[in-house]
Amino acid sequence: MEKLIKELEERKRAIREKDAEKRAGSQHKKGKLTAWERIDLLLDKDSFCEINPFVTSRVTDFGMDKKRTPGDAVITGYGRINGRKVFLFSQDFTSLGGSLGEMHAQKIVRIQDLAMENGCPLIQMNDSGGARIQEGILSLNGYGMIFRRNSLASGVIPQFSLILGPSAGGAVYSSGLSDFVFMVRGVSRMYITGPDVIKRVAGEEIGHEELGGADVHAQVSGVAHFAHDSEKECFEAVRRLLSYLPSNTYEDPPYREPDQELSPDEEINSLIPLDPEESYDVHEVIDRVFDRGSFMEVHEEYAMNVVVGLARLYGHVVGIVANQPEFMAGVLDINASDKIARFVRFCDCFNIPLINLIDTPGYLPGSTQEFDGIIRHGAKILYAYSEATVPKIVLIMRKAYGGAYIALCSRDMAYDRVLAYPCADIAVMGAEGAVAIIFRKEIAAAEDPEKRLEELKEAYMKKFGGPYLSASYGLVDQVIVPAQTRMELFKALDSVLEKQVTRPEKKHGNIPL
Ligand code: HXC
Repeated sequence: MEKLIKELEERKRAIREKDAEKRAGSQHKKGKLTAWERIDLLLDKDSFCEINPFVTSRVTDFGMDKKRTPGDAVITGYGRINGRKVFLFSQDFTSLGGSLGEMHAQKIVRIQDLAMENGCPLIQMNDSGGARIQEGILSLNGYGMIFRRNSLASGVIPQFSLILGPSAGGAVYSSGLSDFVFMVRGVSRMYITGPDVIKRVAGEEIGHEELGGADVHAQVSGVAHFAHDSEKECFEAVRRLLSYLPSNTYEDPPYREPDQELSPDEEINSLIPLDPEESYDVHEVIDRVFDRGSFMEVHEEYAMNVVVGLARLYGHVVGIVANQPEFMAGVLDINASDKIARFVRFCDCFNIPLINLIDTPGYLPGSTQEFDGIIRHGAKILYAYSEATVPKIVLIMRKAYGGAYIALCSRDMAYDRVLAYPCADIAVMGAEGAVAIIFRKEIAAAEDPEKRLEELKEAYMKKFGGPYLSASYGLVDQVIVPAQTRMELFKALDSVLEKQVTRPEKKHGNIPL
């Protein structure tokens, strides 16, 4: 037995230590950590347990029998983050470029199945040249099995993808199917076809970072939810994000004993400018209302006209959707619609109550938006909120016009509580646009059209402006003093935390995509 144990130990050591220095050097030279360093940095100390370290490729074509390495270019297993169990894989670029062949895929599939069966989050650390070319259809088959599991696990367990090197070709879609994509500037590259293919096919010259770097996906495409300056920062963000989430759809998000009272904050009374044209940063409201320092913004640099993210309100995890008057006046456009709908559906999957902070002139007019399908994209918000059964609370801070009112504030979307500030302005559209339409002839015929327009605007605002007409219809539940926002939102949340809603059974809905 002693001999056998020695052999086992040697085999195990060889897996982790063979050419370790050389391999680490090649990763570090590219500004990347090794697959093992990543696991060590991400997880609680000494919590990792590897599964299937001896697996190797079975393919012999193209001299692959000589290139075989134990583990087949991916480390799989489970470990703990802040004491909670997660399943994960970490691709090893130093072995066959982290490429995905038959057995590499089998290892990932096994981890996906274990994560699902045990109701644990799945963390995918990607650093790969994509489908292993030498293994042909077996590689493609592997991707298919992975994508299907990503799709079936959606809404059951949280799935995070960390792009920590190239993620090319088929490799991108497992991340595209995840709940959250994390990228690192200068390290991550994510594209279906790289610069060489683009040059050959389309004659376009573009660099790796410009085509598929972290900033491009965090700001332009919206594929990445988070962009970081270093891998270490990325792992810290992963650990933090997990602290807001339940491990699966059958659990509630983790409650944390609050260390801040529900006391009033007089400064909020003067935060919202009464002039509807004047902007402000909604982050200031969020920072003052929710538990201090608890806001974690998602998609921070994408569609900045809305702000979404997770926070705690007196210890309870909530999802925040807020218009950002400081950026495009907080209007809803196509990208904002996608951002909101995706976030709302995520929160609904994982039992996270939603709180909307509303100040928006409505959907963005314009031919570009129409041609690009604002109807189809805007409908996603309506669908996502109508479908959501988690507690839904609205605070109308200032403007709530037209379709945006219906989507984000209206009783008809089954919001549990609609609160409003005294300066809330709820209408089909802004006063100027409204009177210009309904009194067009009268204004044109007036001796002084400008003056008449102002008079009619004032009359319109007197009739429809403010929250009280809506409150008299029962469409606003309560008008609150801004200084008491934290307390009022908590009371509203507390009253519906145990809410249960059942829906008729069906295969699934058909959200406009
Ligand atoms: C097999 C691969 C590989 C791959 C890289 N390698 N990608 N081996 N299959 N897909 C190997 C290289 O041959 C090399 O082996 C080692 O990994 C390191 O690669 P380098 O090119 O030296 O590294 P680097 O210069 O950093 O470039 C990284 C890279 C580049 C940008 C990822 O390797 C690359 O462009 N690879 C191909 C990317 C791609 O087109 N993938 C799509 C595959 S098709 P040696 O032995 O020399 O060290 C696909 C479709 C699936 O994924 C669709 C499913 C829906």
